[in-house]
Amino acid sequence: MRVIALDGPAGSGKSTVAGMIAEQLDILHADSGAIYRTLTLAFMRRLGPGSSAQEFGSIFQSGSVDPDSLPVQVLLKDRRQSNCLDGADVGLEIRTPEVTSRIRYIADNVPCRNTVNRLLREFSEQTDLVADGRDMGTVVFPDSASKFFLEASVQIRAKRRYEEMLGHGRANLSLEEIERDIARRDEEDRNREVGALRKADDAILIDTSDLSREDVVSRILAQIQYRF
Ligand code: DC
Repeated sequence: MRVIALDGPAGSGKSTVAGMIAEQLDILHADSGAIYRTLTLAFMRRLGPGSSAQEFGSIFQSGSVDPDSLPVQVLLKDRRQSNCLDGADVGLEIRTPEVTSRIRYIADNVPCRNTVNRLLREFSEQTDLVADGRDMGTVVFPDSASKFFLEASVQIRAKRRYEEMLGHGRANLSLEEIERDIARRDEEDRNREVGALRKADDAILIDTSDLSREDVVSRILAQIQYRF
């Protein structure tokens, strides 16, 4: 099946853009970050959250739980991805700061990465999809003919996140805190030993700094006409 690989750093808007493209083309939006989040929540429930992210990291790293033994199911429902734990959709729980601050231990772990990559490739055997993440174009779908990499400065990404939070009426972090958080995640994502955030050589770079989400979607769709 055909795969559009869409990578970029935290806050680059790739998830929203991937959702819009999926809707326009009537294909699946495969959200790889959501699978990392679901695995993280599953480990937190299995091992306990620890008193801090660091403590969780030590507990996680000292054990050897097989990610495939966790009650995680990533299902396709009406061309939508549903992230489930013990049979219940955990789409909201996986977005909490507690999960976000613990993901890096799971994202750094090779067996966990292999599990996520396998699930994504299984999806691609069933349906056309647009997959968003950090390593879709480099590791998971290196043969995709449609690869895109979204960029924007830390400041712009933080501002967008902040405005998004204000829009939802829950700006519980200051702009500076969001900026620090995004910079820390960039550092972790770019320096990961396996599956690091990197533009594939054959990916089209889109600097989204001065573009609306609609503009980004139009650019991608225009390119895909010739490739997808
Ligand atoms: O896209 P997101 O912010 O929901 O992703 C959450 C984290 O998952 C991200 O900080 C790093 C990890 N991740 C990854 O390592 N590789 C991917 N392909 C997608 C996400």
